[in-house]
Amino acid sequence: MKSILHQSLDRTGTDSVKWDGLDRWFHLKDDVLPLWVADIDIRTAPSISEALTARAATGEFGYTLFSRDAQAAVSSWYERRHKLKVDADHVLFSNGVVPGLTHIVEALTEEGDGIVIQSPVYPPFHELVTGLKRELLDAPLRQSDGRYEMDFDVLEIQMRKAKLFLLCSPHNPVGRVWTEVELKQVVDWHVVMTSS
Ligand SMILES: Cc1ncc(COP(=O)(O)O)c(C=O)c1O
Repeated sequence: MKSILHQSLDRTGTDSVKWDGLDRWFHLKDDVLPLWVADIDIRTAPSISEALTARAATGEFGYTLFSRDAQAAVSSWYERRHKLKVDADHVLFSNGVVPGLTHIVEALTEEGDGIVIQSPVYPPFHELVTGLKRELLDAPLRQSDGRYEMDFDVLEIQMRKAKLFLLCSPHNPVGRVWTEVELKQVVDWHVVMTSS
């Protein structure tokens, strides 16, 4: 018998974006594989389901502070995994990656500032930059030997005009996990970004 973590889920008929959205949005039937969205088809780890079940069983759903324990857990994970000291008070809550990115762009840049992205990239990266009236500076990835790579020449030109760089890691949709060499190059170049 497969361990519970390796059981796939049949999510049809559960208002699943990936499977039921096929019909609702695209009027397609089930002979199509919905590879357009990175939605999950494997069961969540039992420890997570159990913690959620126990929390729901309290019947208490009032407004809740972001818990100190959660802040400390994230900070401790960064220290153990990356030897990086992150002040627990600096760990903030966001109800998704895109709202989090939006807050970062609003906090660190002004209207008209340049922000670098690397297309093709998850569409909200484009939308949140233009929606917040920042200048979208694209440094498109290039294909080499059947895989996408950073185009460092273009990236340097764009970073010289930019205030912020939105790194997508691992990169959606090209499926790259950036190498240490690539990431070091990006970090080295942050000094060329405009700071005023
Ligand atoms: C690069 C990237 N960021 C964010 C998201 C969505 O994150 P969240 O569900 O936390 O909003 C996705 C989903 O596919 C993604 O590919």
